[in-house]
Amino acid sequence: TYKAVLFDLDGVLADSAREHYAAWKRLADELGLAFDEQKNERLKGVSRMASLDILLEDAPRPYSDAEKHALATRKNGYYQAIIQKVTPDALLPGARQALEACKALGLKTALASASRNAPLLIDRLGIGPLMDFIADAGAAKQSKPAPDIFLMAAKGVAVPPERCLALDDAAAGVLSAKAAGCYVVGVGDADILAAANAIIPDIAAFDPKSYLD
Ligand code: BG6
Ligand code: MG
Repeated sequence: TYKAVLFDLDGVLADSAREHYAAWKRLADELGLAFDEQKNERLKGVSRMASLDILLEDAPRPYSDAEKHALATRKNGYYQAIIQKVTPDALLPGARQALEACKALGLKTALASASRNAPLLIDRLGIGPLMDFIADAGAAKQSKPAPDIFLMAAKGVAVPPERCLALDDAAAGVLSAKAAGCYVVGVGDADILAAANAIIPDIAAFDPKSYLD
């Protein structure tokens, strides 16, 4: 049976996927590049630099590494300005209850977010005490859809990946957790998350007990 639950953050526990989008959109507007919610779907779960590459793929000119570094830093500044002001109200409905339900069942909880801002955001959301381990996105060799971050999260709570449930709202995240060997619960749209083992519409629908035997 399952011994741990590995959570994605942006779009699963918090509505921060919207804040990432707002920050990228501001940058795209400043650069005069087209960017919308549909294109943003490809950025979900994807690292900062890989996201920037997608944003720039239709740009009329190439950008140097130094320019790209500056643009990524600019986007991160916009994002951090937003999350500095975040309070526990930004938790999605049912997120805290889901973590509490895991703890009540004796399950380990870990964060497997691609975001280097995850520790700051977890702190602002006030759910640090409900997390046994936060995997360090900056230490992952490869970002989602590679399995690294979910493997690190499983290791952090000393549970084999096959004994972990994983929750993610992004196609790249579902593939990452799948590749790690977890049982993957996609949170959101079944068409986008087709590779998941199970789908729930949102975190409020997550009942960890129903996966245990
Ligand atoms: C993921 C988000 O959780 O983190 C992505 O879904 C984001 O949108 C990625 O790009 C990296 O975040 P950060 O905070 O390290 O730029
Ligand atoms: Mg996500």
